[in-house]
Amino acid sequence: MDLSQLEQLLGGIEAEAAASAKAAKSLDALRSAESKLAKGPLAEALKSIKQFAPEERAAAGQAINRAKNAVKRIFTEAQRTLQQADVAGERKHAAGFDPTLPPPVTMRGSLHPVTAVQREVERIFVGLGFTIVGGPEMETDYYNFEALNIPAMHPARDAQDTFWLTNGWLLRTHTSPCQVRAMKRFGPPLRVIAPGRCFRYEAIDASHENTFFQLEGLLIDRDISIAHLIAFMKLLLREVFKRDVEVRLRPGFFPFVEPGFELDMSCMICGGEGCPTCKKSGWVEVLPCGMVHPNVLRHGDIDPHEYTGFAFGLGLTRLAMMKYGVADIRILNSGDLRGIVNRERLMGPIVSNG
Ligand code: DAH
Repeated sequence: MDLSQLEQLLGGIEAEAAASAKAAKSLDALRSAESKLAKGPLAEALKSIKQFAPEERAAAGQAINRAKNAVKRIFTEAQRTLQQADVAGERKHAAGFDPTLPPPVTMRGSLHPVTAVQREVERIFVGLGFTIVGGPEMETDYYNFEALNIPAMHPARDAQDTFWLTNGWLLRTHTSPCQVRAMKRFGPPLRVIAPGRCFRYEAIDASHENTFFQLEGLLIDRDISIAHLIAFMKLLLREVFKRDVEVRLRPGFFPFVEPGFELDMSCMICGGEGCPTCKKSGWVEVLPCGMVHPNVLRHGDIDPHEYTGFAFGLGLTRLAMMKYGVADIRILNSGDLRGIVNRERLMGPIVSNG
């Protein structure tokens, strides 16, 4: 059996759990259905780990654990639904309809996909010694452009048109202004991440919104090289997706880094075949990054002869779309759950007490 066959098997077990939980009419029936699954197919799946090559065992184990948790969740929810139905039935029987009872719970709340991904990335970087910082959404021209080596009249400003306020400030177009703010506040060496909301004057489509989230990262120390940058970026994607993700590195121009890169990952909506989300290329830009430009270090009062560093601007919104199978970015600001393909992975099964 290979990993994809295992995934298929586990998917079948989850479907079976959902069907038998739905069919069970009593708590006893529910318990016996659960134990049948645990002793039968789930135990079999666990045994199959031995057949995997040592380097695949961790992934197989994780997949099985995920399925075990999903099955547990399905039965716990079904149990709660049955218990509530029992209580409601008894009360109705004893006293007739009671309008003061709270309504049945039909839908559980959950974290927004972007928040879920943000917290996960924060956890990874805090573990690597990074501090989480914030920055204002209303920014000055200086921090948003000037200090990032984008002077007035620089063509790079065209790509980041935004909403200007009457006092000359603007709605920040990226989280990068947090770089020079952090340099001035903490001094070198430093490791920070800055998640937050950004704004652009965009033509809105499946992959562009006027309001979206990024997570800026900045590491400055002595002797930091591109090798450190690439190692951190690969680690990040591996941790978020729980497996090695196919990536490609291209040269990319950003005035505040030199050299600058675009780090793309294979599109998880279409599996790399091309769709509107990846603009038919099969690749999605999620991680522009590079070595901090000496001019930016100088703006942050850091001597570029003594220190070097790398920075990245993770597209949190894009990452959430890839992770949870959201094909259209507009869904994320709309509250309409129908477009989230992997909704169960994010929220668990939806419970209806009808
Ligand atoms: N701020 C850039 C943008 O929004 C993204 C970016 C590119 C951030 C390179 C970085 C970087 O920190 O090094 O387009």
